[in-house]
Amino acid sequence: MCGIVGYVGEKDAKSVLLSGLKKLEYRGYDSCGIGTIVDGKFLVNKNINRINSLEEEVASTPMSKIGVGHTRWATHGGATVDNAHPHVSNNKKVLVVHNGIIENYARLREMLKAKGYKFYSDTDTEVIPNLIDLYNKGDFMQAVKKAMDMLEGSFALGIINVDDPNTLVAAKRNSPLIVGIGDAESFIASDFSAILKYTDKISILENDEYAVLKNGGVYFYDSELNPCGKDFKFIDMKDEATEKNGYPHFMLKEINENTITIKNTVSEYIKDDEIVFDLKLTEEELKNINQIHIVACGTAMHAGLNGKNIIETLTRIPVNVEVASEFRYKNPILKENDLVIFISQSGETADTVACLELVKERGIKYMSIVNVKESTIDRMSENVIYTKAGPEIAVASTKAYVAQVCLIDLFAIYLAKILKTADKKHLKALTYDLKTMHASVQAVLEHPEKYADYAKSIANELDMFYLGRGLDYYVALEGSLKLKEISYIHSEACQFGELKHGPIALIEDGTNVIAICTSKILLGKVVSNIKEVKARGAKVLLITNQMQVPHEVYDEILEIPHIDELLSPILTVIPLQLIAYYATVEKGLDVDKPRNLAKSVTVE
Ligand code: AGP
Repeated sequence: MCGIVGYVGEKDAKSVLLSGLKKLEYRGYDSCGIGTIVDGKFLVNKNINRINSLEEEVASTPMSKIGVGHTRWATHGGATVDNAHPHVSNNKKVLVVHNGIIENYARLREMLKAKGYKFYSDTDTEVIPNLIDLYNKGDFMQAVKKAMDMLEGSFALGIINVDDPNTLVAAKRNSPLIVGIGDAESFIASDFSAILKYTDKISILENDEYAVLKNGGVYFYDSELNPCGKDFKFIDMKDEATEKNGYPHFMLKEINENTITIKNTVSEYIKDDEIVFDLKLTEEELKNINQIHIVACGTAMHAGLNGKNIIETLTRIPVNVEVASEFRYKNPILKENDLVIFISQSGETADTVACLELVKERGIKYMSIVNVKESTIDRMSENVIYTKAGPEIAVASTKAYVAQVCLIDLFAIYLAKILKTADKKHLKALTYDLKTMHASVQAVLEHPEKYADYAKSIANELDMFYLGRGLDYYVALEGSLKLKEISYIHSEACQFGELKHGPIALIEDGTNVIAICTSKILLGKVVSNIKEVKARGAKVLLITNQMQVPHEVYDEILEIPHIDELLSPILTVIPLQLIAYYATVEKGLDVDKPRNLAKSVTVE
């Protein structure tokens, strides 16, 4: 899931491309590159380090008014200069940057080789400029179309032709691409954060559409190259929203934005103490739901697990939580009165998008919870509710998770009200708790040194265990993922009750355990379980809002404010986010851009 950007206008293209790539770096950072046209030739600079290093490299290169840029998440071939983008045709006439995967590239490569083309990289992308060149008999757009018709898989492309140095061509299928327009200049980008500095007027390219950017204008064509009109929308976001604003890392900024995120998300849907959603789904349809399926990936799936607990508790409707990459190939059992809920921060995750297409084809009712407006999942969904987390830049999702849990809790209460399946007083109290939750979150954020001290003590560990029962286990899964994905410490989340059936064999002297307990009913069970791991030498940090925990049970304790058990994950996860953050800082690792990861996974 790379990031691409392109520019045609009066400015020095490379400065526009570099500032855009810096905003897109969270999409992949294995290598980067830009390509411009200078004196009738391509000028290509590629780098296996970060954008800043590329910026130094091109500081004194000649000015150009057109160019494309790329930041890479390697899918085909290692992080080398040869595999970095842009890729150029053998005859140096066509240059391309690509986000996506060409599934039939091997066959196309063989076909092109048989026609004398040579390949210098291991990438799937390198077939594209050569394919366009193969079909270019003078009508460049026809050549681009012919080449696109040959491609299978996903692609968002920026294409420049040395013989037409004022024109940038864009094409896409199953990979996000937007077009922006300014005064006498135009842009393409994988997402609008890359060009917000220059324009807030964008249009979103649909599958198999083309855009031709030249002379400050943009011309759109459909899959048959017939001219087609497209609207431009204004993006209601300031460039500053994607800045660190004085924080050392986006992740710490975003963890501290949990408070305002909850306030904005909850106040968006609670009007006069009533939960209001603008859904096309009717009360009748909601009343007839037999089964709910929550489909998502990674952290969003963990938020879905919280949804399962509270929806089943309040509505007694069975909820199935599915990992999207499995759901899409398992021929899922979906019935007429089922409801599928998709959760995604980016709204671009390929596996989740594919599941949505499957559910849509089957005619099953669905709704989506997304954070990024105008994203693919947003535009494919009739029923959407938005988390109000604002841009989330750090690869490790934090505030978006908290907003997703808040929203799914609100939806559970809303559904229970319609179905009259829960005590009115309890629903009122839960709504009130969510309305005031931001204050409790702020209280948890108040003393970060507590979390930093603990994080320092585990930063050099190789293994960690996160233990919980019920909802606490679902939060343990998220806490464990946060630690793994940024600190590279291997960690396992496990249900307390499952320990004796195997995993406890891994507990020995000095093994670090983070135990979570926010349930009064389960407290006794949890205390015995903790004693079992303590007996094998484990060092236990207990995160709890229960007061009667005997001291000898834990080595360290982090108390969080008391809240209704059903809502506790919103508070419990914050210490886990901060522990992962500070452990990573302690190890001197790149907090916002962990190795091998990218913010939105737009390939399968
Ligand atoms: C979480 O920190 C990760 N970045 C990852 O697991 C993420 O949650 C997953 O890729 C889903 O992304 P989405 O919410 O944008 O669909």
